[in-house]
Formats: sequence, structure tokens, C-alpha cells
Amino acid sequence: MGVLIYIDGQKFVVPKNLTILQAFEYVNKTIPHFCYHEKLLISGSCRMCLIEIENIEKPMAACAVSVSEGLKIFSNTPMVQKIRENILEFLLLNHPLDCPICDQGGECDLQDLSMGYGSDRSRFFESKRGVSDKNFNLIIKSIMTRCIHCTRCVRFTTDVIGNGFLGMTGRGISSEIGSYRNDLIFQNELSGNIIDLCPVGALTSKIYAFKSRSWELRVIKSVDIFDSIAVPVKIYFKNTEVFRIFPSKTFEINNIWISDRIRFCYDSLNIQRIDVLLIKRGNQFIKSSWKQCFYFFKKNILKGSVTGIFGDHLNLKDLYFFKHFLNSLGSSNIISDSSMSLLNSNFNNMYKLNTPINLYKNSDLILLVGIDTRFDASIVNLKLRENYIKTINFECFSIGKPLALTFKNTQLGWNFDIFLQIILGKHKISKKIFKSKNPKILLGTYLSNFNISKNLNLYLNNNLDISFLNLKISSINSNFLGVSNSLNNNSYIKRSNVIYFLNSNLKNFSKYSQNKFLIYQGSFGNSNLISFDIILPTFSFLEKKNIYINNDGIFTKTEFIGKTLQYIREDYLIFISLYKYLFNNFLLFNNKINNFVTCRLQNTLNIYNNKNIEKFYIKNIEKNIKNFYLNSDILQTSLTMRKCSKTIFIHKYSYKYYNNSN
Ligand code: SF4
Ligand code: SF4
Ligand code: FES
Repeated sequence: MGVLIYIDGQKFVVPKNLTILQAFEYVNKTIPHFCYHEKLLISGSCRMCLIEIENIEKPMAACAVSVSEGLKIFSNTPMVQKIRENILEFLLLNHPLDCPICDQGGECDLQDLSMGYGSDRSRFFESKRGVSDKNFNLIIKSIMTRCIHCTRCVRFTTDVIGNGFLGMTGRGISSEIGSYRNDLIFQNELSGNIIDLCPVGALTSKIYAFKSRSWELRVIKSVDIFDSIAVPVKIYFKNTEVFRIFPSKTFEINNIWISDRIRFCYDSLNIQRIDVLLIKRGNQFIKSSWKQCFYFFKKNILKGSVTGIFGDHLNLKDLYFFKHFLNSLGSSNIISDSSMSLLNSNFNNMYKLNTPINLYKNSDLILLVGIDTRFDASIVNLKLRENYIKTINFECFSIGKPLALTFKNTQLGWNFDIFLQIILGKHKISKKIFKSKNPKILLGTYLSNFNISKNLNLYLNNNLDISFLNLKISSINSNFLGVSNSLNNNSYIKRSNVIYFLNSNLKNFSKYSQNKFLIYQGSFGNSNLISFDIILPTFSFLEKKNIYINNDGIFTKTEFIGKTLQYIREDYLIFISLYKYLFNNFLLFNNKINNFVTCRLQNTLNIYNNKNIEKFYIKNIEKNIKNFYLNSDILQTSLTMRKCSKTIFIHKYSYKYYNNSN
């Protein structure tokens, strides 16, 4: 049901729970504003959105007044125009004349609105106020004289991430945004989001500082591959160099935040990049061409059985072709290099979430078993915090190590045995869980290290909604294709004479790859590459056109960056070309793969009285991620991520202080 409103004499029907500013956006009209942001609580502090309403003498803030039946709004009267000019003149009184050297230039709300409502000359002859810059952290640059006190950054730290790092101090002309304590830095996995939120150039990126102008950059779509939520992002690049990464609005998971990992990881693209084709002759590598590599490949691949090992960040298309290419060589030994893939891939509810991420904000009780949502899936953690703020009776319990989440949670115990007691109704909180209206149980991938996870049927008769929250994006994509073997099952590898690595982590490869013919296809390398026989360079995850499935079962397409280094090719095209070279035929992508049918099982939990599993029940559950910033081989090569990781240890005190907000 909507309400009828009049905007400048025109009739519109809009949903009744909107504010006037939201109603304008709903009908594709705009009201200039600074402090309002769709994802933050309303503050009504900038007064830029003032409008006139019939029968109300004073102008009203459009962001703070709700629409009602028959409301007559005027947004283009002489009074509204004058108000906007006055507010801008007031904001610009102390604003520096910095536009030519400001990184926000070209995408600054203040700059844009000054064009519309600003004066071409100033009436202010006093000295301008100066505000000292603050030390936020390694990635956020502050020039606080440019701040217009919209308080978006303060509301983000207080309401969204809940660490209360920022606030407004002083009164009147002495008002300043800053931290209440000078000895702390802003240490949070989502800190970079305040750069996007700041409508002016007060908060910008240290990494992007003075590198480029917004109008010089082109943009393509991609996804965050560092967790299994695959949050859509926008990649900004010039020629073929990535300059910055921003979030892209997503309707499915209703999210606009991204983690600092994906926002600042892109310097790793130029470090230890593989950009030539190499073949090993004797003890030496020789630069070669694709044709020579294919010939060398053909000569050696027929030596015996092949095992394929893929990395943590692979997408559906590359995995699909990898699987079919190896199948055509007579091999079905395709395994993940992480131990996180031991889930049952027979039914998709065994490896993806039963409830869409966006609906986690409606749950009244959450039980986290061996999972730290804050670091394993930061976006899910934000949904839970949203729930914690909005729902009076919301409760969160956890099993495993104590968690520093951004909301109150109660640790019930350390091991899986507690979880079994709960679902068998033997624990003191069992009743509470069974009685709650919308309980959700999330199991961490630590549990999938053990074969037990293959035997868990995750949907129980008693309507408890239990899901595994995968840590790695390739885990979802490979399970979807029916590939769910892990390096723990290395009996496969012992039988093979050829190992084909696809973008996999090169850290521990030596222990299972001695005396074998080794092929490495990937974007990044390290000194371990010296043991390989063929090295094939490919596009990195940010550069290629592909498809990812996330934990919700949503397919997201990424776009191609365009031409890059001379010899680099897309992974799946290499498999198509190799197949053509070997078999003189074509490997085709099955488009029906997009038909993702959700199947939910109603079954009972199988509890096995096997000695190994009993031991596992009483073992303390470990955290999945030890270091948020370095939790992947790509992140480990990024200098920015290494520096961020270092600050956790240097500023350990501040990290603990702010993160234990419960
Ligand atoms: Fe110019 Fe905006 Fe930067 Fe201010 S914040 S100097 S108006 S670009
Ligand atoms: Fe607003 Fe930016 Fe100032 Fe924060 S620093 S109050 S976001 S203008
Ligand atoms: Fe309404 Fe700032 S947007 S007061």
C-alpha cells in the first residue's frame, strides 16, 4: 500500500514507510544532501536537504520527515533555493581551496553542489579555520580541514561496525571529527568503507593518493574472491593497471560494504607475477611460445596418470574446463589444495547456505559452531549485527574459541560435543533453540577438515536450519561441479606421475610432488616454481571474464579488463586450446550449468560411534583464519596487506580494546 504525495505539483504514489528524501529517490528525483546515506541511521545534521511543506511555516529536513497521505512538498521554491545557497556558503567559509590537489576532485558532492548553488565570490574575510589531520591507519588518509561534519564516518563506526572509534569533539567553531584517544589507530577489517562514505575529500585512500583522476579511469565488474560471499566490486583501471577497487551495490545481499582485503589487495598484481611461458630443459628454464609449450606438454602428459590441484580462488568456468580437460586425459583426480572442501557435494544444501545471507537479519537466535563470522565472512557478520541492533530478543551463542564479534555473544564451549548435546536436546540451551521462532546454526569450515562433515545431513526433522559457511570461493564452485576432494586424500597424488597445478598455493607442494612431471598454470609464483617443468602465465582474478557462485547459490559474472601482458591468457581458453591441440576437437561450456536447483533435505543427523570421530568430538575447535590480512597466497604478496597485518601486532592493545565491544 502506498501513499499519495505531491512533489512540486506533480502526483506520485510512493511506499508509506519512506522519508521525503527516499520518496524523491523512489520517483527518480534528487534532493541535494550530504549527511543522509541509505545504509546509515539518519542524523539530519547538514541541513542541505531542506524543503518546504504546505501549511508548515519553517523549512523541513527531507531526510528526517516521513511521507504521509496528501503531503504537498515543494523543492524548487525561491526560499529552498536561497536556503541551499546559504548552507553552501556556510560550508565553504572554512573549506580550503584545494580542489586541484584533492583526490576527491571530480567525484566530490561539495564540488558538484557548489556548481549548482555556490557563489562565484566569497564574503568571508577572516582567516580560515585549520584542523589538524588525524592518524587513522595505514590506508586512510585524512585532511580534516576539508571535513564538513556530516558525521557519516562517525555513524559507520558506531552503528555499522560497532567499534565507536570516531566521534565529534568540541563545540561550534572547535568541532572536530576524530578519535577520543590519540594512542589508538582505526584497526578494523572494514575500515576502508569510510573512504566511500565521506562525501568530500576529508577521508581518502593513502594508496591511491595523487595517482590518478576519476575521469581518467575505466571501470569493470568483478567480485571479492577472498571469502565465499563473492561481494560484487568495481575495478577502476587505466590502461591495464588497477588503480582502485570500490564496492558495487548488490540487491541480492543488499550490501554496499567491502573488506579492506579486496579494496587494497591490488598491489599484489604486480608482485611475483608470471608473465612468460617457461619450459625446463635440464636444470634451466627456457622462455618459449605457446606452441612449444603445447608440444612439450603433449610429449610428457602421456607419461601416465594425471592429478589436477586447484587453488582457493577459482571460479566456475575455469574449474569446469579444468575438470573436463583432465577427464579427457583419463583422469578424475581433481583436488583442492586447501583442506576445506571435504563437504558432501551430492546435494547443494550440504555446501551452501540454506537461508539467503540477506535473511540472516531476521533470525532471533544464531548458533555459531567453529566459525568467527567477523573474519570468515565479514558481510554475514554485518547482517548479524544489524539484527542485534534491531531485534530486542536477538541472541547469539558460539562454540569454539572466544569470539570478538561486533555484538554480544555467549560462548557455550570449546568442542563439537557441545553442539551434539544441543541438537540432541541434552544441553541447557536446547529448549531455547527449539522454542525460538527463527533459529539459524552456522557451521565453520574447520569442521570440514574432518570426514564427519560428509556424513552430516544438514537439515533436520525438527526444523533447525543448519548450514556450512564455506571459507573459500572455490570450495562452493568445485562442490557445485561435484569436485570435493582435498589434499588430505593424497593417495590420489601418490599414484600420479603428472601433476597439473591450477592457480594453487605453492607453499607446501614439494612434499607430494617429488619425481613427478609438474605443470603450473597461474598468475603468481614464488621460488618454488623452480621445481616445475612447464609454467603457463594466466590472467589474475581481477582481470578476467568469468562466473562465480557464492554461498547463497547466486551466480555473478565478472568482466574482462582488456589486453594485458603479451603472453598471458585466460585459464579456460588454455584448456580449450590444449584440448584442440591434443584431440583436434572442441571443449564446450555447458550453459545449462546456470540452472541451479535448490534442494533441501529433510533428514536426521547421523552420529557415528567411530573412535576417530569420538576423538574429534572432544577436540577444541580451532579458528579458521589466523591472520585476516594474509589469509591467501595473493594477499601474502601484497605489501599493503603485509603492512596492515603488521599493525595488528604493533597496535595489539588497540585491536583488542575496540574489538571486544561485547
Ligand atoms: Fe574540492 Fe571537494 Fe576536495 Fe573540497 S573536498 S577540495 S570541494 S574536491
Ligand atoms: Fe563527514 Fe568525511 Fe567529515 Fe566524516 S570526515 S564527518 S564523513 S565529511
Ligand atoms: Fe538531510 Fe543532511 S541530508 S540534513
